[in-house]
Amino acid sequence: MKSFYLTTAIDYVNGSPHIGHAYEKVLADVIARTHRMQGDDVYFLTGTDEHGQKIQQSARAKGVPTQEFVDTIAAEFVELARFLNLSHNDFIRTTEPRHKEVVRACLQQLFDKGEIYRAEYKGFYSARQEQFLQEKDRQADGRWPEIYGEVIEITESNYFFKLRSYQQWLIDHITANEDFVFPAHRRKSLLEFLSEPLNDLCISRPKDRLEWGIPLPFDPDYVTYVWFDALLNYFSAVKELGRWPADFNIIGKDILIPAHGIYWPIMLHALGLPPPKTLLVHGWWSINGAKMSKSTGNFVDPIAFGKQWNVDALRYFLVREMVVGQDADFSQEQFLVRYNSELANSLGNLVNRTLNMTTRFSAGVVPLAGPAGEAETELQQLWPTTRDEFLKLSDGLQFHTALERAMQFVTATNAYIERTAPWKLAKDTSPEGQARLHTALATMAEALRLGTALLWPVMPTAVDKIRGGLAQAPLATWDGELVWGDRLAGATLGAVEILFPKPAPTEKKA
Ligand code: MSP
Repeated sequence: MKSFYLTTAIDYVNGSPHIGHAYEKVLADVIARTHRMQGDDVYFLTGTDEHGQKIQQSARAKGVPTQEFVDTIAAEFVELARFLNLSHNDFIRTTEPRHKEVVRACLQQLFDKGEIYRAEYKGFYSARQEQFLQEKDRQADGRWPEIYGEVIEITESNYFFKLRSYQQWLIDHITANEDFVFPAHRRKSLLEFLSEPLNDLCISRPKDRLEWGIPLPFDPDYVTYVWFDALLNYFSAVKELGRWPADFNIIGKDILIPAHGIYWPIMLHALGLPPPKTLLVHGWWSINGAKMSKSTGNFVDPIAFGKQWNVDALRYFLVREMVVGQDADFSQEQFLVRYNSELANSLGNLVNRTLNMTTRFSAGVVPLAGPAGEAETELQQLWPTTRDEFLKLSDGLQFHTALERAMQFVTATNAYIERTAPWKLAKDTSPEGQARLHTALATMAEALRLGTALLWPVMPTAVDKIRGGLAQAPLATWDGELVWGDRLAGATLGAVEILFPKPAPTEKKA
């Protein structure tokens, strides 16, 4: 069994989950489930990032103890994972002792090796971004961009990690490993960024300015700076399991440079550990064409939205609409276009017709197919092409087109039903007429079983319900499942609730 370890970014707990958080987790889940279907030994990690100035500030603004504050918001992310039906193996919180211990051990190891040193630091500091700024960050008019909030000049003694001494190693690593960053254009930007000299990384904050962090093992007056703590979650969660390195660290485009693309591989290398095999970098969702913002109300709560429509439909939309690596726009209109045409009409119709016609014309039992005619042969030939393309596209992370292919097969099956018109064949009581009816009913049931098997990683609940209707157990593997055959012959079909009601209830409110 091939081991496959994948992670998501861990979400900050200073605000509630939004659709961007949901997308990343669903994408990871689809990859995890796809690998499990192929027989890999998958380990899927997600979690929350709970230290740092912003979180401390948010808790103070609410007037609650910081631990209580992070517990409340972390619970929302745990609930999101449950609601989205994620198949994660672990959920790590950076405030957990198991994580803090590993961070402290890593810091001590680097300190002992001389990779961490203390120095005076004077600079412009943005509390909002929790980072020191450089002159190049200023706008042309000399002011600091708004994203930094209030910027103040401070001098303080801090600890630094020798990032610069590993710059050439990192460039060589990225150059030699095309798969280190997906998609390719992000790898290119990372290499471009590395053409300028790096500064060493300030990894500490004095405790009197920031209490809410992990104390440095070699100086209790300091805590670690947010990235040094957060990035190590991918390692701390699996250190004992021997799962490192990750096959995929899945992240959004904003945290590739410098955090995941520079700090992370260098930290690992300095610790004597291999870098992750691939940083999978996804794009960002806008909402109704504009930046997501809770304060302006341009915000989608994934749980409320999923409850309003259907969580599998939400998962489907997120994966169908966004090209992995590019940005996409989320709008209810576009969601409904796909919901109505692809889920309610194409898929929903195929399920209903298959079950209804088998009930009406064959007492609910799938007949054994007779000889294949032209229509059956065409559909049967489309199947292996669909399957092979689907698997290849999924392997290349092109899930949007993979889903399109699977849906084309569903559409082709609906067209097959139109063409063979079982309701007409049912009126033909001759042995040939009955044989053709049996073939048609068996063919549509088999095509439904196969087509939905491909959709399982994206819509596991809906597909397992459909499989229940086809008297099949929930899908546990693709091994042996993706071959056209007659395993449904003799199966007694059961009812399936309407999975994607049509027309979509547009007036329905969350
Ligand atoms: N805590 C850090 C990550 C630490 S990883 C060791 C962080 N947290 S976050 O909550 O701000 O973002 C979590 C993930 O959500 C990131 O990968 C980020 O890119 C992603 N997204 C945040 N907004 C997003 C969209 N609008 N669209 C898609 N993904 C987005 O960064």
